[in-house]
Amino acid sequence: MANIIDGKAVSARVKEEIAKETAAVKAKYGINIGLAVVIVGDDPASRIYVNNKKKACETVGFTSYEYALSAETTQEELLQLIDKLNKDDNVNGILVQLPLPKHLDEKAVINSISPEKDVDAFHPVNVGKIMIGEYSFLPCTPAGIMELITSTGVEIKGKECVVVGRSNIVGKPMSMLLLHQSGTVTICHSKTQDLAQHCRKADILVVAVGVPKLVSGDMIKEGAVVIDVGMNRLENGKLCGDVDFDSAKEKASFITPVPGGVGPMTIAMLMKNTLTAAKIKHGIE
Ligand code: GUN
Repeated sequence: MANIIDGKAVSARVKEEIAKETAAVKAKYGINIGLAVVIVGDDPASRIYVNNKKKACETVGFTSYEYALSAETTQEELLQLIDKLNKDDNVNGILVQLPLPKHLDEKAVINSISPEKDVDAFHPVNVGKIMIGEYSFLPCTPAGIMELITSTGVEIKGKECVVVGRSNIVGKPMSMLLLHQSGTVTICHSKTQDLAQHCRKADILVVAVGVPKLVSGDMIKEGAVVIDVGMNRLENGKLCGDVDFDSAKEKASFITPVPGGVGPMTIAMLMKNTLTAAKIKHGIE
């Protein structure tokens, strides 16, 4: 029976550390730390995420600036706002909540954010830095997962790490972070032949595909660390991960629940990146 990795507890600890450091930085240098959160349209899930991000800012002592734009906002209007935020000294981090309404060009929007304020680490400059292992900002979800793995005390070095999913937001950067810690990394995806065979080799298994219960207990090696990034809404309204928790927990040594696993970590790492952005701007070590 696996130990359950408590994402809420780890995230609270990370936020507590950030709050302490923020208070110290504010007191010593007399600066404020600000995060601009931009939301376009009225997607209910995005609204919840944005509210949680604002709440987290309050918890750690940042100022949050919300820009809630109508679903009809044009590309030019959005780019103008980002340009303004890029130049605003009160804003250390800029977060544009994704997905954007279909008529907007997401890639162009991401590219317009100053890399120094790109606390999501989505800008190609920051993505490239992750590739070569010289980064200021870690992509929030993979960075949160690294914290969760660290919290188990399991060493990554030399281990078989299998990442299921190859998205730019999770799968690809996750694989890089595991590689930087000297894991032996396999990336699986929708075209992988015999997914089960790959999963069964994993000492550390990260699943981020958005398919409810794709990975079941029989696909998991005895004693593996299992990280479930899935957040799927079932017809009965319940949330469910990409891993079949009930069968997986019988095989894993550590496993994340959904909800309460990876989710809370993402926002904590966003706060960490915002603090990092402010420290770099002000030349604070
Ligand atoms: N939408 C879903 N996840 C994310 C994220 O990590 N950052 C942003 N900006 N939008 C998202």
